[in-house]
Amino acid sequence: MVNASPGTSDAPADASPSTADLSTSAAASADGDTPDPQPQSVTTWDGFQAFATTPVAAPPPPGAPRRSLEERLAYHSRFVTVRTPAIDALAKNVRTLMILGRHQTVTARPSLIVTGPAGAGKTTALLQVGRACHLAHTRRHGAAATAGRVPVAYVLVPPAASAKTLATEFARYLGIPVATGMSQAQITNAVCHTYTAAGVQLVMIDEIHRLNPRTTTGAQSADLIKDLTERIGATFVYAGIDVTTTPLFTGVRGAQLAGRASLVDCAAFPARLGDSEPFRDLVKAMEAALDLRHHRPGTLPKLAPYLHERTAGRIGSLARLIRQAAVTTLVDGTERITRTTLEAIRLDHLAEQHYRPRTRPRSRSTSAP
Ligand SMILES: Nc1ncnc2c1ncn2[C@@H]1O[C@H](COP(=O)(O)OP(=O)(O)OP(=O)(O)O)[C@@H](O)[C@H]1O
Ligand SMILES: [Mg+2]
Repeated sequence: MVNASPGTSDAPADASPSTADLSTSAAASADGDTPDPQPQSVTTWDGFQAFATTPVAAPPPPGAPRRSLEERLAYHSRFVTVRTPAIDALAKNVRTLMILGRHQTVTARPSLIVTGPAGAGKTTALLQVGRACHLAHTRRHGAAATAGRVPVAYVLVPPAASAKTLATEFARYLGIPVATGMSQAQITNAVCHTYTAAGVQLVMIDEIHRLNPRTTTGAQSADLIKDLTERIGATFVYAGIDVTTTPLFTGVRGAQLAGRASLVDCAAFPARLGDSEPFRDLVKAMEAALDLRHHRPGTLPKLAPYLHERTAGRIGSLARLIRQAAVTTLVDGTERITRTTLEAIRLDHLAEQHYRPRTRPRSRSTSAP
């Protein structure tokens, strides 16, 4: 079951997250065609805080005055975040593990790994849950008491990460100064000290598939993460592409990770699962979030089999297709998405490679000698 109900996205981690826009780092400003001058990255505390506290994009409530073309262009550029089963599962698991680990001070707490193919919504799920956790923390303790506190950290594993570059990423998130000549151990000590002092409760590490513990630097980075999990009293959540099939889970270090982490599967949406139709539900939720004057509700769910073929059930490709179609119809003034609109849009390479229309256009077959 997916849900696109807008406007309640500041739900705490202990409630199911709902629609929220997570694209503040690429957000357009309200006038639609001017992007924010300096979008902040969520990989720094300031950027993450700005992202977590920015009101989410939502379709207009019934009866609200019509928004201008520019506002609607900006809205479809940001668009909503649909509450997917993966986001639900992650939110529930994070909450449980945070409670479970609250008094576990000596050894590493149990962790979670969000795994799935590229563009399946792993980062979105992570950020959505991080955002909810941040807002729940502020609500529980009040803005004054939370000044100087950092409940959530979000770090990307850098390409070809060494333990030192990874430790530096952790330092960068909190603005911990790293002088040239500092050893990895010194950076790690500063990170553990500052994260503990700031009261970090949830550490999210994205792009974890970049770590390959079979290489020396990869093994050292994996050891660093293990070290951090034991020294920072937080719950760790990782996200990466198909991690169970990568070297991350093999060998001694893989066993250490697999022995502590449970998996949250962020797979492509199947067309059918028992009696339910998860992909059609997702399409319905996205259609309900459109803000187009002449769009006929029900058109997109009817096209679910075609959309599933085009996107292979990947939420990233579907969101792109629908958002791009919406913007196209706003620009040409039709404000109504049809199969013809969708046919005219070229998607990401992965989706285009997968999609082979059953009926080839006549012009191609007849043009053959
Ligand atoms: N729950 C959601 N609701 C609406 N759109 C979503 C949702 N999840 C993902 N998307 C869309 O899919 C795109 C890709 O999502 P995301 O970056 O989270 O995927 P990913 O699995 O982290 O990809 P990668 O493997 O490349 O890192 C996003 O830019 C967003 O447009
Ligand atoms: Mg990602």
